[in-house]
Order: sequence, then structure tokens, then C-alpha cells
Amino acid sequence: MLLELDDLVLRFAGNTVLENIRFGVAENSVASLIGPNGAGKTSLFNCITGFYRPQQGSITFAGEQLLKRKPHAVTKLGVARTFQNVRLFREMSVLDNVMAGQHCRSKAGAFAAVFALPSQRAEERRIREVCEDCLEFVGIADEADRIATNLAYGHQRLVEIARALATEPKLLLLDEPAAGLNSTEKSELVRLIRRIRDERGVSVLLIEHDMGLVMEVSEHISVLDHGRIIAEGTPQAVQADPAVIEAYLGQDEDELELT
Ligand SMILES: Nc1ncnc2c1ncn2[C@@H]1O[C@H](COP(=O)(O)OP(=O)(O)OP(=O)(O)O)[C@@H](O)[C@H]1O
Ligand SMILES: [Mg+2]
Repeated sequence: MLLELDDLVLRFAGNTVLENIRFGVAENSVASLIGPNGAGKTSLFNCITGFYRPQQGSITFAGEQLLKRKPHAVTKLGVARTFQNVRLFREMSVLDNVMAGQHCRSKAGAFAAVFALPSQRAEERRIREVCEDCLEFVGIADEADRIATNLAYGHQRLVEIARALATEPKLLLLDEPAAGLNSTEKSELVRLIRRIRDERGVSVLLIEHDMGLVMEVSEHISVLDHGRIIAEGTPQAVQADPAVIEAYLGQDEDELELT
């Protein structure tokens, strides 16, 4: 396993958000984490990426313990993420947004990259090339110089994915990447996720409410409900699991596509 969580517990003021989570993501795979609103999915990402401090358990990634590491250190080890709500520097260019993510790989660091000395120009050129390559990879290279906030929403989500890829991760965490996308954009997202795995050798862990997309793209699915993993397995197995159907009862119609 590339990523392994064992006995993870997260509480806020006595409220248990994640309870004894055991969970893994295999090398070179696409896995999904699904579950009703408030189940704890984003909190799980926040634990993995060092934004939250779990009270108990372990998170092992490529042989390293992630627990107690700061977000930038987790990024440097090879875990990248996107956010449930798009987080871009709205007034900066698309390329600068992507470059802002890559600086964890820069020897000189973000400060030196901004106030570049001549000796650091080569480094900056390398960063720029990596970032342009990532924009090309997600299909928006021709928008590199545009101001981020002027892009169509679907393309803003692609900027976030490019920024995450620019950190040269081994694992990419996507929090609801299909939210707000139309059906054409969703099909393109499925293709992109597969290319991230196949062409970049990156494992993808997806949080997503669009069940059609989840079933199509995932090799493995884990279902979270009230902070517990209630089912996991292949898309077919999870879809037929009574505990999963039960967990989704009472959810919105359009999220109930488990047929
Ligand atoms: N920083 C925090 N402080 C207190 N409670 C929190 C915090 N972060 C999350 N929670 C609580 O943890 C629970 C799970 O929230 P989380 O955002 O992880 O759910 P989710 O599965 O991502 O839901 P959604 O599908 O709506 O995004 C919620 O009850 C939420 O209020
Ligand atoms: Mg969430």
C-alpha cells in the first residue's frame, strides 16, 4: 500500500469526527472515498495532509509517518491535494497559480523564487517548465497568461489539478473535483484521472458525490458514514452492499444513484 491509515481517531470538542479508521490506497490506482454529507471525508483528507491533528492512530505514506508533519512537509513527501471549494489566487495568472504550488520542490524556496538572483534563474526556469508542462497535461496551456478568476469554472478546477501535479506527487487527493462540472467536463475528468495514474504513475484518491463517475473510474471504493468506514471493495460490491444503500437513504435524489 502507498498510503495506510490505521486506527485513526479525530475529535473536535468531544465530537468524534473519525472513529478508528483503517484505510489504504494502493500504488498506481484510482480509489474513491464516498459517503453522505458530513460523514468526515474532507476531515480525512485534512488529517492526511497535516491540516488536522488526529488524537490517535497512524498514517503511513511510502514508508514515512505523516502524523505530526506540517502541510508543506506532507506535500514535499509526495502528497498533493485539491480543495472542495476552488482555492486560487484570483488576481494572479494561471501559470503563477500553478508555480505557487511547485515551490516546495524548489531548492531556493518561494522567497528566492520571487526575488530571484541571477544564480537562481535556472531554477526558476525549471519550475516554469514543469508548471507549463502540467498546464499542457490538463489541457489548458493556452490559458497560462490569463487571470485565474476570468477562467470558466471547470477550467479553474483544472488549474487546481495542474497546481497539485506541479508538486510532483505520488498521491493526488481530489475533493469533489466533479462538483459544478457539466457532463462533457465530467467525461474529460474521468479521462484525466486515468491519465494521471497511467502516464504519471500517480495514485488518485477521490472524494466524490457523483456516483456514476465514481463507479466508472474507481478500482476500489471506501464508504464513510458518521466517521466510520461501513463498506469497502470493488464498485460492484459496494453498490450492492445493504449498509451503503441504508447510509444513503434520506440523501438528495440526485445523489442517490446507487442503482
Ligand atoms: N475544524 C472543525 N471543527 C469542528 N468540527 C469539524 C471541523 N471540521 C469538520 N468538522 C465536523 O466534522 C464532520 C465531518 O465534516 P467533513 O467536512 O469532513 O464532512 P464531509 O464528509 O466532507 O461532508 P461533505 O460531503 O458535505 O463535504 C462535520 O460534522 C463537521 O462539522
Ligand atoms: Mg467534504
